[in-house]
Amino acid sequence: MTYQSSYELDIPIISIRKLIDKYPSLQANSIKKPIRSNNQITRQRLQLDFEYEYDFSTTKNQIDITEIIIQDHFNISNYKLRRDKLCPRINNRMEYLLILESCLIEPCCIDKAVQDANYVIDIGTGSSLVYPIIGTKISQFKNKYIATEINETSVNHIGKILNENIQLQNNVQLVKGNNQQLIPEISQDKKVKYLVCNPPFYTNIEELNEKEGLKKTIKPNELTIDDSELIYDQGGELAFIRKLIDESTVLINSPNTFPTFENCWFTSQVGIHSHLEELNEYIELRGIPFKFNESIKFNTTRWIIGWRFGGHQSVMIQKYVSPLNWPSRNVLQNIFSKLHQHLEETKGRFNDFQFKLITVKHNRNVFYVRTNEYIWLRKIRRLLSNSTMSRSSDLSFDKDILIRIFVDKGKDNFDLNILTNEVDHNIHYNSLKSMINQLLVPSS
Ligand SMILES: C[S@@+](CC[C@H](N)C(=O)[O-])C[C@H]1O[C@@H](n2cnc3c(N)ncnc32)[C@H](O)[C@@H]1O
Repeated sequence: MTYQSSYELDIPIISIRKLIDKYPSLQANSIKKPIRSNNQITRQRLQLDFEYEYDFSTTKNQIDITEIIIQDHFNISNYKLRRDKLCPRINNRMEYLLILESCLIEPCCIDKAVQDANYVIDIGTGSSLVYPIIGTKISQFKNKYIATEINETSVNHIGKILNENIQLQNNVQLVKGNNQQLIPEISQDKKVKYLVCNPPFYTNIEELNEKEGLKKTIKPNELTIDDSELIYDQGGELAFIRKLIDESTVLINSPNTFPTFENCWFTSQVGIHSHLEELNEYIELRGIPFKFNESIKFNTTRWIIGWRFGGHQSVMIQKYVSPLNWPSRNVLQNIFSKLHQHLEETKGRFNDFQFKLITVKHNRNVFYVRTNEYIWLRKIRRLLSNSTMSRSSDLSFDKDILIRIFVDKGKDNFDLNILTNEVDHNIHYNSLKSMINQLLVPSS
């Protein structure tokens, strides 16, 4: 089972019901409820049937279920959270990492240099080590983590988790953090793919009490007995992320650290929406060319901010989805082969035309096309189909265009979704769609 994230991603849903069945200790934290059924025959049995509904209203219960989720879904044996520290919401953390992998990293995989980068930095990993645990697992241990943490008790706790889990230990390096330099020193042979961070939100205890106090009246809080991990006394999350931006600029401008961070997407979670705007301005003011904003929709909305300095493939894929009613998932393979044939034919006629088609191994429903001309636009197609036509200035073959095509299960049908980096989405989407439609018409 999955749910759709803001970026049309399928985020796996963790079935609490199944966990309760599998781990009877969780029943003590559940409320027994009779099952409602419309079936008349079962009316008599109705009183006998019941199900357990997990009670998330206490922090103890939230911690209990989170420990089981991490043990069960991420195979971390004997995983325990510290009861005085932040209890992470797994779906929120998973959505953040999946958005980065799908929106920022996957499109760049067309570039060999990005494929070679396999390090992820997690700034302020907390006592839970939550991003490294999720991130190594969803990448099937291709991603290696360098995690920093400043808090002594959290560092000790992480040590215990790593000691008990050899596979995690082999893929996660823990670095003691400090406030002078947030991004740790990394040896030159390592290439960083992206940096993640869930920064401390507040500037001081007064601000924390005021804001968390407000929250507690509405819903249970994520647990803040030890408040230190939520406070950055130099100015809360805004100052923390600004410092990351400043440090990233220094790293990119130093010849010693440039190779390590050349392809890195620097990102952070942002908890307060108004900070997003301020951080976007900060990034622009520093002349950083690429930025990324997206929201994490799970439960409470959070935002992701990202910035990148360059690298060969820095095309931003914009969100654009308009469904077409495709009858089956198999159509993707068909589109792939027909498009490939068409691109080969075009290349046969125009030597300057370049293209690359790549499928993403871990994702059967997606492929990417990179071309140097908009061959789907009507006026270009007209030029291409006119065999007597000599080269026109409209055909320059000097662009760098990246599109992403994926077939996804919509409400009733499988839909064709195309994401392009083009500003004028409508024209490109519709032209590409009609070109693909024509290619798919069986030849008589
Ligand atoms: C909001 S918590 C996030 C914990 C975890 N990553 C999560 O998502 O649940 C912020 C963490 O950053 C840590 N931290 C604060 N300043 C730091 C620094 N200079 N270097 C490393 N970690 C720091 C805090 O101790 C805390 O564990």
